[in-house]
Amino acid sequence: MNQQTLARLAQVLMAGDKGLLAMDEGNASCNKRFAVRGIAETAEVRRCWRELMVTTPGLGECISGAILCDETIRQQLSKGISFAEALTEANIMTGIKVDGGVKDLAAHPGEKITEGLDGLRDRFNEYFLLGARFAKWRSVITLGKGMPGQACIEANAHALARFAALCQEAGMVPVVEPEVLMTGDHNLVRCLEVTELVLHAVFNQLFIQGVNLDAMILKPNMVLPGLSCVHQDTMDEIADATVHCLLRHVPAAVPGIAFLSGGQMPVEASARLGAMNARFRSRLPWALTFSYSRAIQEPALDVWLGRESAAQAAQHTLLHRARCNQAACRGEYSAALEFSS
Ligand code: 13P
Repeated sequence: MNQQTLARLAQVLMAGDKGLLAMDEGNASCNKRFAVRGIAETAEVRRCWRELMVTTPGLGECISGAILCDETIRQQLSKGISFAEALTEANIMTGIKVDGGVKDLAAHPGEKITEGLDGLRDRFNEYFLLGARFAKWRSVITLGKGMPGQACIEANAHALARFAALCQEAGMVPVVEPEVLMTGDHNLVRCLEVTELVLHAVFNQLFIQGVNLDAMILKPNMVLPGLSCVHQDTMDEIADATVHCLLRHVPAAVPGIAFLSGGQMPVEASARLGAMNARFRSRLPWALTFSYSRAIQEPALDVWLGRESAAQAAQHTLLHRARCNQAACRGEYSAALEFSS
């Protein structure tokens, strides 16, 4: 695939006021979410949950792409078509998570490195044949005493760039996800400092590895105080810090930035994205949208609880969150929307 076609694919994903649905949690994470709700932790129930999501009527009006995991892209809907075919029918592009998960970084206690580069070229080729047109790789940066160190930041930035280059070679759009975790009592200024270091390292490596910035999507964290920080900043302070950080570090060639939710409450994740777009949208060189997993799925999962009888109500809840986030992309989110049907 030539670079212009790839850039167009990235533009399609980031066009208008749509966002991405991250439904690529691995089996262990998905099971954990099921376990706390008393839902059976089996491959078939995971398949049912994902079928419920992708068959939500109207989802394609707010979601441009859905990120699957390896298990789901090989499964079928009950009517006998693949998930990729079902997504195409819904006007949603198929994405795939290709990283091999986070492992301890040798010689750096408490820090993580994402594995999965070995054999990645062959896996990309297979996923392309299975219908994927974009792919995601997540790196995790932990904040703590003396953390993150340079070794963790550089190793993860390098892996993200190697992933992105291979992804583009395979004709797929890379979603580059360096996640600075919310866990901890650090304040917003510390999160800002680290997010700046990380984005600087990531774009340096993307340049070194020859990644085409026109044909990629950045999936960063918002700049936030830690979950257990005593001082929680206002929505406007968070919006300001996040947007200014991104303006300083993300080249204008990148077509879009799609935030992860990272453990924010669903309504907070919509409201903060809404505040950024309401205040800055007309001045931004890239689209600012969402690629949430927990903040979009969990309210619907709470309604479903594994019950066939609650499937329609759960789809309604999923669509509601998608619509709230879509309004946030337009800068039109307000708390009143939460009470609309
Ligand atoms: P959350 O929105 O739950 O942070 O998940 C995003 C994601 O894709 C993690 O890799």
